[in-house]
Amino acid sequence: MALSWMATRWGDLDGWEFVEREVPAPAQGEVTIRVSAAGVNPADRKHVLSPRPGTTPPVPIGYEVAGVISAVGPDTEIASGGGAAGDAVLAFRVVGGYATELTVPARDVFAKPDSLGFPEAANLLLAGTTASQMLHVTGVGSGDTILLHGASGAVGVSVLQQARALGIRVVGTASEARFDVVRRFGGEPIEYGPGLADRAKAAAPRGYTAALDTVGTDEAVDVSLELVADRNRIVTIAAADRATDGGFIAIGGNQPESAAYRDSVRADLIRMAGEGELEVPIARTYPLAEAVEALTFLREGHPGGKLALLAE
Ligand SMILES: NC(=O)c1ccc[n+]([C@@H]2O[C@H](COP(=O)([O-])OP(=O)(O)OC[C@H]3O[C@@H](n4cnc5c(N)ncnc54)[C@H](OP(=O)(O)O)[C@@H]3O)[C@@H](O)[C@H]2O)c1
Repeated sequence: MALSWMATRWGDLDGWEFVEREVPAPAQGEVTIRVSAAGVNPADRKHVLSPRPGTTPPVPIGYEVAGVISAVGPDTEIASGGGAAGDAVLAFRVVGGYATELTVPARDVFAKPDSLGFPEAANLLLAGTTASQMLHVTGVGSGDTILLHGASGAVGVSVLQQARALGIRVVGTASEARFDVVRRFGGEPIEYGPGLADRAKAAAPRGYTAALDTVGTDEAVDVSLELVADRNRIVTIAAADRATDGGFIAIGGNQPESAAYRDSVRADLIRMAGEGELEVPIARTYPLAEAVEALTFLREGHPGGKLALLAE
């Protein structure tokens, strides 16, 4: 038996329960992971706020984990090759990662680089693959100058580091208290809030070739539309309705083409993280039993790094 967080009804955190659940033995193509840390993402809460077609509560929570393999299905290898009981791994995208143990498809499980701690590994891939796709869909590359809304957030710091590796200049919005975070990962910080368009213009007088929005406020969208003429070079991960109205790009992990792209970059992001090119700053850890406290803190919108739930 394992302990696992479930949304027992559609709605907010008061409907979540920490319950005992059977862990099925891994079939062919599956492995069981004893979880050390579960990654915490805003989507963990948002995706159970309102009913989803084809799904009925209880809904297991959590999309990414790091831990140790406890069992391997017959004739099964993990995505990075091999895989045996006792190996340290990370897994994304999984269903029900807020658990002490779970059985998952082996194709979503990768060896954990020794240089990466469990909380960092558990938080690498949801933000990292999203950041990668934002850069990919806008087609930016070496020599581009981009405006990044939410540069101090989880997706933001991953965009900063991946852009730096590609030779892209990034001007990124943040609260003034987090300017040091933006600088540390290679960005040039400017403060969000009234007057943002003027500050952004002053930071890059020759203009921006793309705008990447991880925030979704009207301010972020309006400034993107004002400063970047080509709608194919504006992407949001947090304002899908505005994207439909404004004719620019919105991406989400549930879109099949997004899922396929994100799956395809996992191994490369793990390699970058293992080699120290892609850091995952952890702001706080919580015991797994305190998942609701972690999500309540994250909901405030300024976590200052990622949160991890420790299962052991
Ligand atoms: N569509 C997708 O595939 C996808 C994937 C991942 C995440 N998301 C969504 O993307 C968003 C960001 O996720 P995350 O994990 O990066 O969140 P996060 O770590 O909580 O970061 C939040 C960011 O927003 C900034 N911020 C907060 N209030 C702001 C405001 N009023 N104006 C401008 N910036 C503000 C914060 O800056 P300060 O801390 O400096 O104030 C911080 O940079 C969430 O809505 C999440 O649900 C979508």
